Amino acid sequence: MGTTTTPVNALLLLMLSTFLLYFPCFSVGKNETDRRQTQVSEIIIAGGGGYYPGPAPPPECPPPPPPPVPECPTPSSPPPPPPPPPPPPPPPPPLPACPTPSPPPPPPPSPPPPPPPPTRLTRARGALLKFKKFDIVDKTGYTNNWKGSDPCKYNGIRCAIYPNSKQLAVAGIDLNQAQITGVKNGTLKLSGILGEIPELTFFHVNSNGFEGNVPDISVKKFKYFYELDLSNNRLSGVFPMQVLEATNLTFLDIRFNQLFGPIPPKLFLQDLDVIFINNNYFSGNLPRNFGSTPARYLTFANNQFTGTIPNSIGKASKTLTEVLFLGNKLEGCLPYEIGLLSKATVFDASKNAIRGPIPHSLGCLKSIQFLNFASNQLYGAVPETVCTLPGLRNNGNLSLSDNYFTQVGPECLKLIESKVLDVNRNCILGLPNQRSPEECHVFFSNVKPCPNPKSFNYIPCKTDYSKLQSTEVAVPPLQEAGSSYSSPPAPVTYKALRPHRF
Ligand SMILES: *[C@@H]1O[C@H](CO)[C@@H](O)[C@H](O)[C@H]1NC(C)=O
Ligand SMILES: *[C@@H]1O[C@H](CO)[C@@H](O)[C@H](O)[C@H]1NC(C)=O
Ligand SMILES: *[C@@H]1O[C@H](CO)[C@@H](O)[C@H](O)[C@H]1NC(C)=O
Ligand SMILES: *[C@@H]1O[C@H](CO)[C@@H](O)[C@H](O)[C@H]1NC(C)=O
Repeated sequence: MGTTTTPVNALLLLMLSTFLLYFPCFSVGKNETDRRQTQVSEIIIAGGGGYYPGPAPPPECPPPPPPPVPECPTPSSPPPPPPPPPPPPPPPPPLPACPTPSPPPPPPPSPPPPPPPPTRLTRARGALLKFKKFDIVDKTGYTNNWKGSDPCKYNGIRCAIYPNSKQLAVAGIDLNQAQITGVKNGTLKLSGILGEIPELTFFHVNSNGFEGNVPDISVKKFKYFYELDLSNNRLSGVFPMQVLEATNLTFLDIRFNQLFGPIPPKLFLQDLDVIFINNNYFSGNLPRNFGSTPARYLTFANNQFTGTIPNSIGKASKTLTEVLFLGNKLEGCLPYEIGLLSKATVFDASKNAIRGPIPHSLGCLKSIQFLNFASNQLYGAVPETVCTLPGLRNNGNLSLSDNYFTQVGPECLKLIESKVLDVNRNCILGLPNQRSPEECHVFFSNVKPCPNPKSFNYIPCKTDYSKLQSTEVAVPPLQEAGSSYSSPPAPVTYKALRPHRF
């Protein structure tokens, strides 16, 4: 776990394709954990992933075994028994093969080489051309160069050597923003293309007109499929359970569609690294096993989710890095377990109906940079523990506007002055831009307490604030805007709130 890609690494890696990292090296690659994390950082930052601009040696490939064979050497030491002789050398005049006395008149020069067996590539080419010819209206001309014998040259098609073979295969399809629609206005089926090429490792079709069912992409058929981006299409219906059959999937992006209904608990048991499902019509409670997910980036924003944030969320403390709940109908009180998310840099539950105080445990969010609970029904005092968090003080962002807080201490006041903390439109006496006393009165005459009130004071870590109280150790100094302090890397999940690709 210790090797998650740092943002800096991720940026360096930006020039490399996830695809090169993944596909050719997949069998000699670093171990599972490392690989899935590396590649996804790039995808997010590089935007869509799967390009291979740079010939630079993929840094994440394992310290290469000595022989610099261009293809990744097969890992296992015993050289594979060489039964399959390389691509059939057109056998010269068949030797003793034909029993019948073949008429050996030499003049006919060797017969035209037997038609090669359909390779992975020719099969894929057939599927692509069929899709182009019968299924789509391509008003932007994205597929104009889909002709000729080499599909690897087609716009948006990525090829690579198929593992353990010498054959090239179509390993990825990228139709991002191609604006392709169906021939019969909106009948563009994924099965026409996604279902046809079992060598695929990724499929990106952001901003097109796909609708209907997601085909079977189970590992049985798609052994190496790891990245699915169906964002900003016209998919409707309930959560596409078929995508969960793709057990090698690490990146799932189905945001900006018209999907509705509950999300399955099974989603949180998949070994996914990225789950983007924002801007659909998903509803119901967040499953109670929420915290079982190993994903680092989650966007549940702008759906219709109800109920509370599950307290199992604390179980994701080793991985969860950014989570967006904003723009739902979440209610109830905040579980103290949120404070266990020591890796979290972004936690945004703004624009919901969450009530109660902020648990003091949130002072343990030692990596947090963006903490947003604006536009809820939170009240009480803003914990000083939270206002001393280093990531917030260093050009972070703590948004608590449009709630019913009544109090801030000296550390929080400093954050207000430095514009890190926004407490506009609350009920804090003596601060500008607060709600009217009447409005506050109405709210407080009707307030429902939280269950388990003691948990709100529980602090599951040693905070700078407690040090401050006991030993007078100074809290991290505030950074002045524009000071030399390097600003934190930009969060990635907020970009998912726009319909287009990254
Ligand atoms: C995989 O890598 C992780 C992090 O580097 C390490 O903790 C783990 O032990 C490795 N697993 C194997 C099987 O090598
Ligand atoms: C095609 O569908 C879109 C949206 O569903 C609609 O606005 C448009 O009028 C339709 N065009 C035709 C020719 O039916
Ligand atoms: C894909 O899944 C299969 C079966 O679960 C597994 O054996 C294989 O190693 C996986 N491949 C990759 C590249 O993760
Ligand atoms: C903090 O975040 C809020 C909500 O996203 C945003 O409106 C505000 O501009 C941000 N403030 C700063 C100083 O970045």
